[in-house]
Amino acid sequence: MTHVVVIGSGIAGITAALHAVAAGCEVTLATKAALADANTTQAQGGIAAVTFADDDFGAHVRDTLTAGAGANDLAAVRALVAAAPARIDELVAAGVAFDRAPDGTYLKGLEAAHSYPRILHAGGDATGRAIEQALIARLRASTARVIEHAFLVDVVVDDLADGGSGQNTARRVTGVDLLLTGGHHVVTADAVILATGGAGQLYAHTTNPATATGDGIAAALRAGAAIGDLEFVQFHPTVLAAGGAFLVSEAVRGEGATLIDEHGRRFVFDTHPDGELAPRDVVARAVARRMREQGGRPVRLDATAVRAHGVAGFLARRFPSIDAAVRERGLDWAHEPIPVTPAAHYLMGGVRTDLEGRTSVPGLYAVGECACTGVHGANRLASNSLLEGAVFGARAGDVVARDAASGTWPVTMWAPAIRAVAAPIDAPTFSREALQQLMWTQAGLVRDAAGLARAAGVLDAWQTQPRTPHTVAAREDENLLQLAQAVVAAASARTASLGAHFRLDDDAFRTPSIRNAEASNPTESPL
Ligand code: SIN
Repeated sequence: MTHVVVIGSGIAGITAALHAVAAGCEVTLATKAALADANTTQAQGGIAAVTFADDDFGAHVRDTLTAGAGANDLAAVRALVAAAPARIDELVAAGVAFDRAPDGTYLKGLEAAHSYPRILHAGGDATGRAIEQALIARLRASTARVIEHAFLVDVVVDDLADGGSGQNTARRVTGVDLLLTGGHHVVTADAVILATGGAGQLYAHTTNPATATGDGIAAALRAGAAIGDLEFVQFHPTVLAAGGAFLVSEAVRGEGATLIDEHGRRFVFDTHPDGELAPRDVVARAVARRMREQGGRPVRLDATAVRAHGVAGFLARRFPSIDAAVRERGLDWAHEPIPVTPAAHYLMGGVRTDLEGRTSVPGLYAVGECACTGVHGANRLASNSLLEGAVFGARAGDVVARDAASGTWPVTMWAPAIRAVAAPIDAPTFSREALQQLMWTQAGLVRDAAGLARAAGVLDAWQTQPRTPHTVAAREDENLLQLAQAVVAAASARTASLGAHFRLDDDAFRTPSIRNAEASNPTESPL
């Protein structure tokens, strides 16, 4: 029987595990914290899928490509969109109660850059939590073995002898090295599926939980896997800028909330005809720019008109989690605009995979945010991330036993050495906070060659400083450092702006005045 180890317990990991179980595999799922401590639990807006008769698959494909600045892999986008209804049915069968109208039809949510309101949600703005709880119940009821509080130290890769020639020419995954409370624990496996999420903790300000330290991507890098698109980091435009970062879902703008500056003026239309519902990268940069122009003070999200849906208490019912967070901070968003600011949200890049999650290393798979199928291009369309986890998690879980039995590995990818050219530099002492601040200021919403070179120099200097990563936190720091170098190298290599990767020094597109206006990486943040 094929033994599969899945690392990570969000929608991608649990879906992969359940599909692998269904395909006859023996499955171990290990996760860094408790099962529910996954990014998925925090997802608010919902899950995008074509489920209404007046929507169509072509429109969802086009919206995904437009948001992604055309840099998407078309086959991946088609696979994502086509499989969405089946994955929604599967979630419903698992017990996810998507919100419905009195006639039983799903309620339609709208988010930025969608040409049709196709976002399904549950518990108003608690879609991720509803999905996570249902999937955990399924996992617990399955034959999968679950190991919580297990930190992924490394993917174990062995060299394979080449048919008796004596030359080791191939490498294959043979398991994982986990750190548990009792010490190291190596689990051998025929296949390893990474579903470790993103790396929002690279940045000083993020919507991501503390666990999002890019452990799976860093481990894959060390195992020699090809990595891609790391320069595409998505910043969410509307994070509460009072009392600690808290995401205010794009669905709030989908319900009609607007963004205003300190003079009460809607400013996003200055940049894009779709205003607040323009692609997320465009809105985030517009917010950052306006903040810079008003001395770093946050802009405001005005949801007061959303009350005009005519129903008293609409905001509290439609967005109960956000409503509670807003009220905890002493704000009343039904009557006053609330302060918001951008923060790092999602990594479009990751471990390169084919459409079945196979990486360039035989036996190693990656699904969900840690993977790079190319489905999101240069900027992910809102609410395509839960969908990505469900679709590509299922695809990997479905094929893993077959792959192990066939013994062949159809994927060949070139794994480039990812190094930025670093200038020698006096670096401050390493700390996670220093790294996050460096990334925020030099490799954030906007970048240029000088800032990236400085970042590369500091990161390289840190890399050479002696450290002893014995604790989980210290190992996370190593992963963040390694990943930061890869992000900076990727951002340095792409000299033209594309989607979420915005180069101030891309002279093909910018006049000096626009360049100055776009120089908007907030060095100070209200968060
Ligand atoms: C949001 O609710 O605004 C976030 C949804 C997403 O990241 O797709």
